[in-house]
Amino acid sequence: MKYTAKYSQLVMPDNINVIGTLFGGQMISWMDIAAAKVSYRFLKGTEAIGAVTRAIEKVEFKEPVYTGEWVNFESTVIETGKTSFKIKVDAIAEGRERGERLACTAVIIMVSVVKDENGKYHKYEHGKLCE
Ligand SMILES: CC(C)(COP(=O)(O)OP(=O)(O)OC[C@H]1O[C@@H](n2cnc3c(N)ncnc32)[C@H](O)[C@@H]1OP(=O)(O)O)[C@@H](O)C(=O)NCCC(=O)NCCS
Repeated sequence: MKYTAKYSQLVMPDNINVIGTLFGGQMISWMDIAAAKVSYRFLKGTEAIGAVTRAIEKVEFKEPVYTGEWVNFESTVIETGKTSFKIKVDAIAEGRERGERLACTAVIIMVSVVKDENGKYHKYEHGKLCE
């Protein structure tokens, strides 16, 4: 099965850096949420209580993004391991003046987890595959 998810954010003045464009740390935080959304779909039907971010790889900021623009995130599970799975996240900016463009890309590794009786998280073999 193919696992994908979409998620959007409006860029507000609070999200802007000192040079007037979207702050990179904010973009990464939103990409992590986009990865969480597809993780939720991927793990539906398993005993995992969720997934945690283990690594964020290959982050590339390709185009600046400005206040008032939308950022549309598309996340796809591209590879699976035993407890881990790899997600590609594309962030597509959309604005009245500049149109649509690929603003940022990243590959995020999530690990599926369960919680023990002491509240500690442990990795969990999800047993799932992607296309
Ligand atoms: C996720 C966690 C429970 C797993 O702990 P662990 O028992 O040490 O397991 P490991 O991290 O060694 O391995 C788990 C999987 O991640 C993979 N992995 C570990 N580091 C990796 C990296 N840098 N890049 C890609 N994959 C990685 C391993 O290969 C393994 O995959 P597999 O089971 O599919 O073969 C633990 O590392 C943790 O709690 N990390 C903190 C997570 C966190 O707080 N994230 C931020 C908030 S969501």
